[in-house]
Amino acid sequence: YAPVVVVLDGPAGTGKSTVSREIAARLGLSFLDTGAMYRAMTYWLLSNGVDVDDADAVALASEKPVIVSGTDASGPTITVDGQDVSGPIRGPEVTAAVSAVSAVPEVRARLVELQRDSAAAASRGMVAEGRDMGTVVFPNADLKVFLTASAETRAKRRAAQLGISEPHQVAAILADINRRDAADSGRATAPLRKADDAVEVDTSELTPEQVVVRIIELARERA
Ligand code: C5P
Repeated sequence: YAPVVVVLDGPAGTGKSTVSREIAARLGLSFLDTGAMYRAMTYWLLSNGVDVDDADAVALASEKPVIVSGTDASGPTITVDGQDVSGPIRGPEVTAAVSAVSAVPEVRARLVELQRDSAAAASRGMVAEGRDMGTVVFPNADLKVFLTASAETRAKRRAAQLGISEPHQVAAILADINRRDAADSGRATAPLRKADDAVEVDTSELTPEQVVVRIIELARERA
C-alpha cells in the first residue's frame, strides 16, 4: 500500500472525532486528533500559570512542553511531559481558553511540525482531523472532507455527549460553540476554512455510520 492521508476539517460538534476514528479503524490507518494537541498545549499553559491572553507569553512558553499523541488498547492517547492528559483536556477551562492559544502563530508552527512528523511515521497512512488539515498542514492529502452541520444540531450532539438536556444549558453550549467557531474562523493564521478541493458533507441529517460509509466510499474512489 502507498500511505494515504485522509483529512477531515470542520467546526465543533460535526462528529469529526467519532467519524474519523472509525474510518481509521476500518481502513487500518493511524489516527490523529489535532484538536487534542491544541488542548494539551492549553492545559499545560494553564497549569503553569501562563496568561493565555498574552500572545507573547504563550509564544515563548509554547516551546517547553513535550506533547506526544499515540494510541493504546483503549484508543487515542495524549501526554504532556509524560503525563496522560486525555481526560483533563476535555474540561471547561481548557475548552474556554483553547481558541486564544491556537490563534498564536508560534503555537501553530510547533504543532504543525509534530503533525507532519506523525504522518511521516504512519507507514500505512493516517486519518487526521482538525481545522486546517486540508488548507495548511496536508495540502496534498489524498482525500479532503469538510464536515458541516447546523449550529443547533451541533449543540444538541455536544449536550448529549455531556449528558445534558436542560434547555438553558443546551443554549449555553450553543453560545459556546458559536463563540469558538467565530474565533477559529476569524483568526489570521490558518483559519477554519474549507479547502477548495475538499468534499463538503453536511451531517445534520446523517447518522455517524452513514457519514463513515460515505467517506470510505470517497476514499476508495481515490485509492
Ligand atoms: O477539535 P477540538 O474541538 O478538540 O479542537 C479544539 C480547538 O483547537 C479548536 O476550537 C481550535 O481552536 C483548535 N484547533 C485548531 N486547529 C486544529 C485543530 C484544533 O486551531 N487543526
